[in-house]
Amino acid sequence: MTNQSKKPWGGVFDGATDPRVEKFTESVSFDHRLYAQDVRGSVAHAHMLAAIGVLTQGECQKIVAGLEQIAKEIADGSFVFRQELEDVHMNIEHALIEQIGDVGRKLHTGRSRNDQVSTDFRLWIRDAIDRLQEKIIELQRAYVWRCAQDEGVVLPGYTHMQRAQPVLANHYWLAYCEKFQRDLERLVDCRKRVNQLPLGTAALAGTTIAIDRQMVADELGFEGVVANSLDSSSDRDFAIEFAFALTLVAEHLSTWAEEWILWATCEFGFLRLPQAFCTGSSIMPQKINPDVLELIRGKTARVVGNLQSLLVLVKGLPLAYNRDLQEDKPRVFDSADTVEACVELASAVVTGAELNRKTISEKLDRGYLDATTLMEHLIGLGIPQRSAHEIIGQLVATAIKQNVPLADLPLEEFQSAHAALDEKVYEVLGVQRAIEAFASYGSTAPDQVAQQVAAWRKRLL
Ligand code: ARG
Repeated sequence: MTNQSKKPWGGVFDGATDPRVEKFTESVSFDHRLYAQDVRGSVAHAHMLAAIGVLTQGECQKIVAGLEQIAKEIADGSFVFRQELEDVHMNIEHALIEQIGDVGRKLHTGRSRNDQVSTDFRLWIRDAIDRLQEKIIELQRAYVWRCAQDEGVVLPGYTHMQRAQPVLANHYWLAYCEKFQRDLERLVDCRKRVNQLPLGTAALAGTTIAIDRQMVADELGFEGVVANSLDSSSDRDFAIEFAFALTLVAEHLSTWAEEWILWATCEFGFLRLPQAFCTGSSIMPQKINPDVLELIRGKTARVVGNLQSLLVLVKGLPLAYNRDLQEDKPRVFDSADTVEACVELASAVVTGAELNRKTISEKLDRGYLDATTLMEHLIGLGIPQRSAHEIIGQLVATAIKQNVPLADLPLEEFQSAHAALDEKVYEVLGVQRAIEAFASYGSTAPDQVAQQVAAWRKRLL
């Protein structure tokens, strides 16, 4: 800095900052990740300052060329970030002034780091949302691809982790497609609120300089301009919303990971995981552990924790900007990095795994998966649901005593349970026939599932 004390705001200060404070308050160790967005924002700001006559065209060109040079140096690793310059914004501005001289001192006209950081962060989150959307679509494609592999396979469906009713494997795959579709929609929706330009709201009250905020918004691809400077200076709801959308992605992945960890056990034996996505044990030579799935489940904890931190961070902050807000970035970066990596690995695991069809089908006649279908058959014969439930419950108790599936009970058992029951019961008994008896929209009925698979294929493949 020419003829200035160590810090650019040093005029009012009579000495240097305590080194412990520099270390304590710095953010450049993490917000350097905003450098590309910071340069993009500054270039647009410089163009606008030229358009309103604050900069000459020549000055603007110098500033833009200087900023682009700095971005190049940061990208190739030759730029040295300095902790005493606190954050990415000051580091870049300082380097610009060093490189191009006093003209660089004009760049910060009509803006503050408060609107600058919010702009950079919004641009960063926007980019992250766009990347993540692609990755989530890849994951949905992996599930839809599985539908072709697992056509016709029937799985036991569970509630309370107890066998409940049969479901088609494809119904199961598409359940996850639907969950991730809502996650995608949440991200798209959140992007609209992220994509509003705060730049030009300056420190908190706006500026007396006749800036053209719409021009900056247009150049940076923002859909609108934040209307109230106090609001934009003080809030991080856009970042929290993003962190929340990420948390639900992580939660969905965690559910799936937990399920597959169970399915890959000897006890279930439903699934063979791709070995490239498993790890071994240092002591037990036979082990092939589902560590990727466990870490997808485990890393959900930090994503939830980050959301919690952000919510607590803004609680009780008076308007407008407070330095507390600087703590937002490590949390958001961590959630975005974590979820991006989890989604990417999940796609690979979904594609590489194989269902052990033999083991699954051998055990399908356990657990009376067809009992509810039989009850609905009885309802179809005019018996009220509560009575039918009672009657079939008694039949199941008989079958349990005899240790046989319902389909193996003799006709007399059914007829003594209720006179309306005849040999037609066998048409709905057994898992395969039970599946075929389903009829409602959104159910596991084969024609319903086939329609859904076709719709997903059309959408994604
Ligand atoms: N590093 C700061 C942050 O992340 C930038 C804004 C600093 N503004 C200030 N008035 N000190 O929030």
